[in-house]
Amino acid sequence: MKIYKYGAKVLRQKAEPVKWSPEIRNFIMEMFKTMKAESGVGLAAPQVGKSSRIIIIDVGEGPMAFINPEIIKKEGDSVAEEGCLSFPGIYFEIERAEKIEVKAVNDKGGEITISAAGLAARAIQHEVDHLNGVLIVDRASFLNRKLAAGKLRKIKKEGQKDEMFS
Ligand code: NI
Repeated sequence: MKIYKYGAKVLRQKAEPVKWSPEIRNFIMEMFKTMKAESGVGLAAPQVGKSSRIIIIDVGEGPMAFINPEIIKKEGDSVAEEGCLSFPGIYFEIERAEKIEVKAVNDKGGEITISAAGLAARAIQHEVDHLNGVLIVDRASFLNRKLAAGKLRKIKKEGQKDEMFS
């Protein structure tokens, strides 16, 4: 699967809810392969060009998939550097909740509610943002955005071109 970069319109769309099916399960498996190949810890369907509410993470605690995820509880604050496969080479300090509770459907079609903290909580919040068209650049400070302006411009151009020729 191809990863769409900042500048691609699909990353700015609000993704559609998904009904579980065996095809969705296969799609999720392909997403995991793509994420592993790029050494990512999280990926959202819009990043591979599909505007659907599906996210996956693997922060070293095993692979997890969430269909139609909803963050139902947030607790505490934490600030850390975050990257994104759609922003190669760029890292921003971003504030997230330290602990969350998330409700979703898993890759087998079952309803789940899980608690996550630390890196897992951060990754889930980052990926849920993707489903709402929100990107790390939107959550970065004005100063950090300024500092990265040159790199951002370059990636944005590539992202626009990628989408035009796909
Ligand atoms: Ni991302």
